[in-house]
Amino acid sequence: MTATRPGEGLKTEKMQGHWVLARMGKRVLRPGGMDLTRRMLDALRIRESDEVVEFAPGMGVTARLTLALRPASYTAVERDEAAAKIVRGYLEGDGRRCVLGSAAETGLPAASATVVYGEAMLTMQTDETKRQIVREAARLLVPGGRYAIHEMCLQDGVEGDVRSDVERALTGVVHHGVKPLSVSEWRRLLEGGGFEVKAMETAPMALLEPARVIRDEGFFRALRFAFNVLRDHDARRRVFEMRRVFRRQRGRIAAVAIMAVRV
Ligand SMILES: C[S@@+](CC[C@H](N)C(=O)[O-])C[C@H]1O[C@@H](n2cnc3c(N)ncnc32)[C@H](O)[C@@H]1O
Repeated sequence: MTATRPGEGLKTEKMQGHWVLARMGKRVLRPGGMDLTRRMLDALRIRESDEVVEFAPGMGVTARLTLALRPASYTAVERDEAAAKIVRGYLEGDGRRCVLGSAAETGLPAASATVVYGEAMLTMQTDETKRQIVREAARLLVPGGRYAIHEMCLQDGVEGDVRSDVERALTGVVHHGVKPLSVSEWRRLLEGGGFEVKAMETAPMALLEPARVIRDEGFFRALRFAFNVLRDHDARRRVFEMRRVFRRQRGRIAAVAIMAVRV
């Protein structure tokens, strides 16, 4: 049977945190919210001549902003079948597609893209898979092509036991591995993968703060999200637990967007 909703077949208490939020009607699942997404897109300067690849589009929110810029082509690579189906619902016309697969090994032709970006998808990978995904972005891009990421980051000075504590707390509450890097480590990851960093922006990690939810989702969708969460006992437990941990880690984590050019 094909999945129709992300996280299908899993109980809410076991589901990855982003799918709990998506099921409750939240569409924006990245740490720096839509403001940081817009700044990332500004830095990418997508034009009508661009061949764009998006890694892990999730609910397709950034996909829609990109499609409005009318790039020559748009290809999304999403590993969740239900999410891929949702994204396909936004795609019309030639040169627009969403393939099911991993960003670490897309199967797309080398040097076929001028822009690659991905949000809230590297933080959840191991160090080795992070490197593989960055290498894959470099393989897909032509020299001079632009690559942007939008991820969670550790604040300066979060190291050693404190860092392990942050990873443990986030992983425990989100129900999958969460390994954010510091801003300088994200930069080194991209430089080590054949990129030159051109622009960097940070924002607070406020994914579940009411003001951010309203800004990201709009007033009525935010209200519906709140209503859905409040009437579902298991989801309410998960969402409140996530927010509690995010708040407790507030001084230690943030969001970063980086735009880099393939050397
Ligand atoms: C936290 S959600 C973020 C979704 C969306 N980018 C956003 O910011 O709202 C993580 C997404 O990454 C996708 N994902 C995780 N690892 C992936 C991989 N190796 N290849 C493709 N998609 C992946 C998940 O299926 C999910 O859609």
